[in-house]
Amino acid sequence: MLFLYDSLTKFGADVKVIYGAKTKDDLIFTEKFKKGVFLTEDGSYGKKGTVIDGVLQEDLQNYEKIYVCGPQQMIEEILRIFKKENVLSIAEFSLERYMRCGIGVCGSCVIDSGLRVCIDGPVFKGSELV
Ligand code: FES
Repeated sequence: MLFLYDSLTKFGADVKVIYGAKTKDDLIFTEKFKKGVFLTEDGSYGKKGTVIDGVLQEDLQNYEKIYVCGPQQMIEEILRIFKKENVLSIAEFSLERYMRCGIGVCGSCVIDSGLRVCIDGPVFKGSELV
């Protein structure tokens, strides 16, 4: 995400980051994100809460693109929110899975839709994940 952020801002894009973790010690590169909302579950840095709380504070209709990465539970909740807000078409999700072969053969990284994270992703459009 930092590489994406740097690439977008280098070309003048107005990028806002909603970045959360359990504690302050779990956050890295906070100083790199000039326009950000930071949240920690224990309140040790930024606002107390989760990324979900941060997303719920946003008017998602104001965004041209939304990029998401994080743990599966968060991704699932974000998908529900984006579907409800009708912004799935502008969202992309980077998924993580345990991978064995990494070349699309073993099936260890298959998601519910049948797509393989190793070769079909790891980045998917929101509409592909619903
Ligand atoms: S890691 Fe084997 S199919 Fe994706």
